[in-house]
Amino acid sequence: MTPLRLTGIRACVFDAYGTLFDVNSAAAAESDALGDKWQPLADLWRTKQLQYTWLRGLMGRHADFWQVTGDALDYAMTSLKIADPVLRTRLMESYLRLSSYPEVKGTLERLKAGGMRLAILSNGSPRMLGAATENSRIASLLDAVISVEEVKVFKPHPSVYALATTQFGIEREEICFLSSNAWDAHAAKAFGFHVVWCNRFGQAPERIPELPDGEISTLAALPEILGL
Ligand code: LAC
Repeated sequence: MTPLRLTGIRACVFDAYGTLFDVNSAAAAESDALGDKWQPLADLWRTKQLQYTWLRGLMGRHADFWQVTGDALDYAMTSLKIADPVLRTRLMESYLRLSSYPEVKGTLERLKAGGMRLAILSNGSPRMLGAATENSRIASLLDAVISVEEVKVFKPHPSVYALATTQFGIEREEICFLSSNAWDAHAAKAFGFHVVWCNRFGQAPERIPELPDGEISTLAALPEILGL
């Protein structure tokens, strides 16, 4: 197979949770308190969090990602019979200090040095994204941190992806969008971006319209794809 090469890209736009920031790291940080329930809690928390974003979008009942993340945690803790309000507070606070994946900072530095404009486009609220980017020391590398709160509907609504073209004032196909969430990658492709799916966990491809341009297993592969 010929290696993927994308030309004419002027900005790289990244999904946040699962792509730059490790969503499992919040529950993992409490593994002493949670014991063998930490991974089931992390999985159910994330699954419900995403379901609630889609459901709220379809219902026309938006609330910000902090609210949705808390609601999803409550569901997950109740399901797993974990009744501990202090632990709940600690888990939510650790969501503000999620670790970034190991290659993230170095990759962003390389892209920036190559003249690429960089942004986050995420469901996260401005406060959550501000805390996570500061904590990972990547805030100064980003030209923009764009939150769905500007349009008050979650991904995959097309108005979310349109925020990135407005931000940079460039054409859709001049943006390379990166997400580890396959559904987000397909939706961004449907909008008209170039898209690379960062398939960190070796997941099976989704059966929904619009294939991403390519697939990588970590973001470290990105600069070469862009010829940097
Ligand atoms: C985000 C979710 C989809 O950051 O991970 O938008």
